Amino acid sequence: MQRVEVEIARLIKEIDYDEVTRLFAMLSGGKRLRAKLILKIAPQHEKAPLLAAVVELIHGASLLHDDVIDDADTRRGVASVNATEDSKTAVMLGDILYSKAFSELVEFDRDIAKSVASSVTALSKGEMQDVKMAEKFNSDEKKYLDMLYLKTATLIESAAYASALLAGKDATKYGIYGRNLGLSFQIIDDILDITADAQTLGKPAMNDFIEGKCTLPYIYLYRALDEEERAKLISLHTKQTDADEVFWIKQKMAEHKSIEESFKLAQKLSDEAMQAVQGDDELIAILQTMIKRSY
Ligand code: IPE
Ligand code: IPE
Ligand code: MG
Ligand code: MG
Ligand code: MG
Repeated sequence: MQRVEVEIARLIKEIDYDEVTRLFAMLSGGKRLRAKLILKIAPQHEKAPLLAAVVELIHGASLLHDDVIDDADTRRGVASVNATEDSKTAVMLGDILYSKAFSELVEFDRDIAKSVASSVTALSKGEMQDVKMAEKFNSDEKKYLDMLYLKTATLIESAAYASALLAGKDATKYGIYGRNLGLSFQIIDDILDITADAQTLGKPAMNDFIEGKCTLPYIYLYRALDEEERAKLISLHTKQTDADEVFWIKQKMAEHKSIEESFKLAQKLSDEAMQAVQGDDELIAILQTMIKRSY
């Protein structure tokens, strides 16, 4: 991982703009899940740290834009760039990180470059769908999962697929692993938005529903409620909920086991990821840590 950090620092330096160096230094690195996956899949390859750095820059750019999109004022335990500076700065820094990452893709074979670059188109489509779907209360699970695949799973799928290509391994198999891990990962993220506090998360809690995002626990809760309660849930959608309203939502979710039901799907997807890489203990360990994480 040290080599990944060195590569990231080198790429930032190459951008050759003090303001970018300053702003980038204010971001903390995050869990580096995607980089870790790449190093585990292609541990021997000399270009694996660069691929990991490219993917982490892309991920970082997507978070800068995501916090603007979601009006989020904290990220990785510190104030987000849109909060300390402004949204314009966060968008511009995101653009610089994205484009720098894309330039580095010329160092790789076409199929690797294509996979990583197209995953960013998918991610951006997913973010757009997420916002679009938030305009109205959504109770369609399939529509929600299709959006999750684009928004979160494609980059992780591509990280696994591309690093398998780099290592000369069966890329399809690793792609399936990444895809299912990515889906499971986002479902856990959605659960944590409801169950964890902002301090543990390092980002706002209970923010999804305020932003209009009807994540899986809300979809499952809606299904379980009676007519009158459904109307109440819908009336809280996109509202700046107060403590009583949050209490009501959480209580109803507990009563109907909406979190457990969501967690079960995350677990099932994680099991599918596990089956794709049977025997690879390190990749299985990543899955287990991911599913048990608290932030
Ligand atoms: C956050 O990703 C965005 C989602 C896809 C849920 P991570 O949880 O991997 O963010 P960092 O990089 O560790 O901060
Ligand atoms: C994931 O969605 C964001 C990206 C894939 C860019 P979220 O909006 O749920 O991510 P967090 O919760 O802010 O990290
Ligand atoms: Mg967000
Ligand atoms: Mg978002
Ligand atoms: Mg989230």
